[in-house]
Amino acid sequence: MNRPESSEERVEPSAELRRLAQDLKPPRTVALVGLMGAGKTTVGRRLAAALQLPFVDADVAISEAAGRTIPEIFSEHGEDEFRRGERQVIARLLTGPVHVLATGGGAFIDTRTRALMKERAISIWLKAPLDVLMKRVEKRGDRPLLQQDDPRAVMERLIAERYPIYSEADLIVESSSGPHNIAVAAVLEALRGHLTKQA
Ligand code: S3P
Repeated sequence: MNRPESSEERVEPSAELRRLAQDLKPPRTVALVGLMGAGKTTVGRRLAAALQLPFVDADVAISEAAGRTIPEIFSEHGEDEFRRGERQVIARLLTGPVHVLATGGGAFIDTRTRALMKERAISIWLKAPLDVLMKRVEKRGDRPLLQQDDPRAVMERLIAERYPIYSEADLIVESSSGPHNIAVAAVLEALRGHLTKQA
């Protein structure tokens, strides 16, 4: 029932990532936001390993809570109902212990979910170029919003609608076409800068 990302894949952080994460102790959950294909799950899992924190994929948690896959929730109950479940699950997760949370692309766009994340998490927008997003989403056909004749046009529309909102995240990190560990390293550096400023 779960998506492949939910498997308990163990990721051993590289020496470089370990060094970048040394003594870094986020006081709140680190929530990755951004469009489908930005790498939130892969980067999140590696980030969690480097920080020695638990990793949670919000979509997997929603799917587990509903006993249905994300496409089933969308087709049986519609997007509004999915957003309601997403809001509830993220609210529950954000009252729990500090972890790294990969959120679905629309979570930060929902006004109430965003307010919760601003209050209780450190939000990081993983920003990737359109071509990179498209190449990554082509690998998986289970995203209801992209089950359209022209998924690239959908993505372009989402970029126009959502980028101004993602830009409200606490931190913005570019995630390019290169290895995911480059983005993980960039997130760790951004996080260190942020926590030093807050201290
Ligand atoms: C969505 C993104 C998906 C999933 C759902 C809706 C969105 O998550 O939550 O299909 O609105 O952008 P990913 O960003 O992990 O693909």
